[in-house]
Amino acid sequence: MAWVGILHGLWIFLPAYVANMGPVFVAKLIPGWTAPIDGGRVGKDGNRILGPGKTWRGLAGGTLLGALTALAVAWAAQRWNVMQSWDYGASAGSPWWAIAIYGAAIGYMALVGDAVKSYFKRRLGKQRGAPWVPFDQLDFVVFGLAAMVLAGPVLADGWVRGALLDDWAVLATIVLLTPLLHFAVNIIGYGLKLKDVPW
Ligand code: CTP
Ligand code: MG
Repeated sequence: MAWVGILHGLWIFLPAYVANMGPVFVAKLIPGWTAPIDGGRVGKDGNRILGPGKTWRGLAGGTLLGALTALAVAWAAQRWNVMQSWDYGASAGSPWWAIAIYGAAIGYMALVGDAVKSYFKRRLGKQRGAPWVPFDQLDFVVFGLAAMVLAGPVLADGWVRGALLDDWAVLATIVLLTPLLHFAVNIIGYGLKLKDVPW
C-alpha cells in the first residue's frame, strides 16, 4: 500500500523536518544569540560567505531537536508497536544513545545542507531570505538522506537500508513530497508570523 509507504517516509524523516524548522523557533527562544557561522566575513565578491541568517544558534538547536525527535519517533513506534522499520531499529537492538546520535546527525546535516545552499545563494548575489526554488526546499532533503546513510552503522544492522529501500514510496515521499510540504509549512509559518517571508 502506497499510503503506508508515504506515512513511513514522513515518519522516519521527521528529525530532518523538525531540525529544518527548528532555527525559526530557537530564534524566538534565544533572540540574543545571533552569532553567525561565517563570523561576518565576506567573500571576494563582496557578499557574505553565508549571511546573517545562518547562526550557530540555528545549527545547535537543529542538532539537538534532531536528536530529541529521533528519540520521540523511536519511542512512539515502540510504544504503539508499529513495525520495526519505523523505530530506528529500537526493537531490533539499536541502543537509545545510538538513536540520539543518529537523530543529531540528521539534524546537523539538514542544517549544514541549508548553510551550503546559502553559500551558493550568496555567490549568486541573492540576499538573505530571497527565494531559490527548488534548492531552498531540497537542501535539507539531500543532506538529511546522506546523514541517514552515513550514520546508519550506529543503528541495528541493515535498518537504514530496509527502511529506505523496502518500499519505493518511502524514498519517493521524502524526495518528491517534502518540497511540497515545505511550501505549505512555510506559508503557515508566515501566517503565524514566525517567518518574515512565505517561503
Ligand atoms: N536560522 C538560523 N540559523 C540557521 C538557519 C536558520 O538562525 N543555521 C534562522 C534565521 O533567523 C533565518 C531563519 O531561521 O532567517 C529562516 O531560515 P532560512 O530560510 O534557512 O534562512 P534565510 O534567512 O532565508 O537565509 P538564506 O537566504 O541564506 O536561505
Ligand atoms: Mg529562506
